[in-house]
Amino acid sequence: MEAINIKPDVYWVGGIDWNLRNFHGYQTPRGSTYNSYLIVDEKITLIDTVKHYLFEEMLERIKTVIDPKDISYVISNHVEMDHSGSLPQLLNLIPDATVITSTRGEKGLLKHYNHQWNTKVVKSGEKLSIGKRTLSFVHIPMVHWPDSMVTYSKNDRLLFPNDAFGQHLATSERFDDQLPLGILQEEAAKYYANIVFPFGGQVQKALEGLNALDFDMIAPSHGIIWRSHCDEVIKLYKKWSTNTTDPKAVIIYDTMWGSTQKLAFALLEGLRSEGISVSVKHLQNNHISDIMKDILESKLVLLGSPTLNNGMLPTVGSFLTYLKGLKPLNRVGFIFGSFGWGGQAVGEIEKIVEGLGWDRPLSSVNINYIPSENDLKKMKDIGIQLAKYIRK
Ligand code: FEO
Repeated sequence: MEAINIKPDVYWVGGIDWNLRNFHGYQTPRGSTYNSYLIVDEKITLIDTVKHYLFEEMLERIKTVIDPKDISYVISNHVEMDHSGSLPQLLNLIPDATVITSTRGEKGLLKHYNHQWNTKVVKSGEKLSIGKRTLSFVHIPMVHWPDSMVTYSKNDRLLFPNDAFGQHLATSERFDDQLPLGILQEEAAKYYANIVFPFGGQVQKALEGLNALDFDMIAPSHGIIWRSHCDEVIKLYKKWSTNTTDPKAVIIYDTMWGSTQKLAFALLEGLRSEGISVSVKHLQNNHISDIMKDILESKLVLLGSPTLNNGMLPTVGSFLTYLKGLKPLNRVGFIFGSFGWGGQAVGEIEKIVEGLGWDRPLSSVNINYIPSENDLKKMKDIGIQLAKYIRK
């Protein structure tokens, strides 16, 4: 287990979670990392820790650079346990070290670990000299929790923004120019869509705060470190946080006897005939966290469900619960479904879409039993109309 030198006297000493496949409901087929960073200065400083079960891995990496007992400061940028989980074990070894955190961070750590460590609370904009370097802190509440903050080292032109700009990606490489950019963008998008999506306004404020800082490296708490593509990932965060989309569509549905699927494919045909890029997601075959990635940049979202027991299918209900919490805004929605009797699913979906404030230029379609050729022609035509609508 090695420490990776990322700047003079600054090291990555995190843990790689190769086998992680689920992060509180978010499917992580490529695993993840929890990134800790060690700054060797007059006051040796560790920024964030790792999940509790990777403590020994982090410690081993730290030991290749310094004696862990020499650590003076442990900065906790974020209380969530993927970053604070090793604090108790670490602070058992170094009880005299000072934990640097935000006011909410201090409260959160106490609630999580029921232990009052030596703590120094820092305000947003506050500075801390650790020797040759002066670190400063920018609070970024709700990116990802109320306690979240960024640590900045002006001397190193280095930003430690914790969850922001992260990706769930376990790799032996540490930098963005060592892997295909497409994979990084895909994982950064999936991460944003599943973790940061509800907090667009706060992300914009955080970006304004970071705008004033001079940096050439972004070292987040998950995945790779950005050094060659900092501008690209910041540009993407600006796009995503303002709910700016492309004229693309995603069709999300489940089906019982194939009727709703027939409607979905007719919509697909109409949209494709107008050259729209469409992603089709059957809810039994696609994970909700992957679907959210498609919604991130799609202007048009089409949602379909048959009616089962006077309501929508449970897969659709589960997805919509997730969607509602992540709150994508400024979308165009279209709802469709099929039924034998009752037919309540479409109305239930409409309520959720109305709650999100999406534009619904066309009325929903709810077909009794099996769609006729004429019904399918109408659905294709709806696809064409929606394509024209999102392109205008
Ligand atoms: Fe990576 Fe909000 O924790």
